[in-house]
Amino acid sequence: MNKETPMKQQKVKIAVLVSGGGTNLQALIDAEKTGILHNGTLTLVIANTANAYALERARQNGIATACITKKECGSTQQMEQQMLQILQQNNIDLIVLAGYLSIISPEFIAKYPNRILNIHPSLIPSFCGKGFYGLKVHEAALEKGVKITGATVHFVNEIPDDGKIIMQKAVTVKENDTPEILQKRVMRLAEWKILPLATQQICQTILQEQEKE
Ligand code: GRF
Repeated sequence: MNKETPMKQQKVKIAVLVSGGGTNLQALIDAEKTGILHNGTLTLVIANTANAYALERARQNGIATACITKKECGSTQQMEQQMLQILQQNNIDLIVLAGYLSIISPEFIAKYPNRILNIHPSLIPSFCGKGFYGLKVHEAALEKGVKITGATVHFVNEIPDDGKIIMQKAVTVKENDTPEILQKRVMRLAEWKILPLATQQICQTILQEQEKE
């Protein structure tokens, strides 16, 4: 190889943004260990609350962590400034929102076009957008009486849950389901499966695009 030829990047550096228990983060960690996620590496986990158990999962697996809260930063703008700084310091290529319960500003999203993924616990365009998060999504699905629900991984744009769909998986609703029971089934059968697969797919695309450059 010519000395002046820059080395092509081997793996896409991923940051995962979290707010809660981090079972989706755990699915990504497991996927990297088993090789399902092989074109990307989990490099940084950022939480917007200090008591997110996801931070503990990251620490236990040797992944760098940061906790950036709106309370400590004073405003959303300051918070995002700090996030951008730490993302850049860690040379992050791809951001995965895994149960991250803050809306990200259009200015922030514009810095990472087609480089932010989100997992949503329904088949978009059903039960999504502003106000549809966590158990509320499953409550709405049961209320409507849908027989099939599921999960969606999509790109993040400036409108909540509106970006291009990358992957979806359907899950059957059962009689006597409660929102809690349905939430668990959707996580186990859909979210934990498609988030690692979609992340791998996008990492592979990013590396292929870099190859062409
Ligand atoms: C998941 O249902 C995710 O889709 C949603 O919030 C939940 C987060 O769970 N938006 P966890 O923190 O990954 O366990």
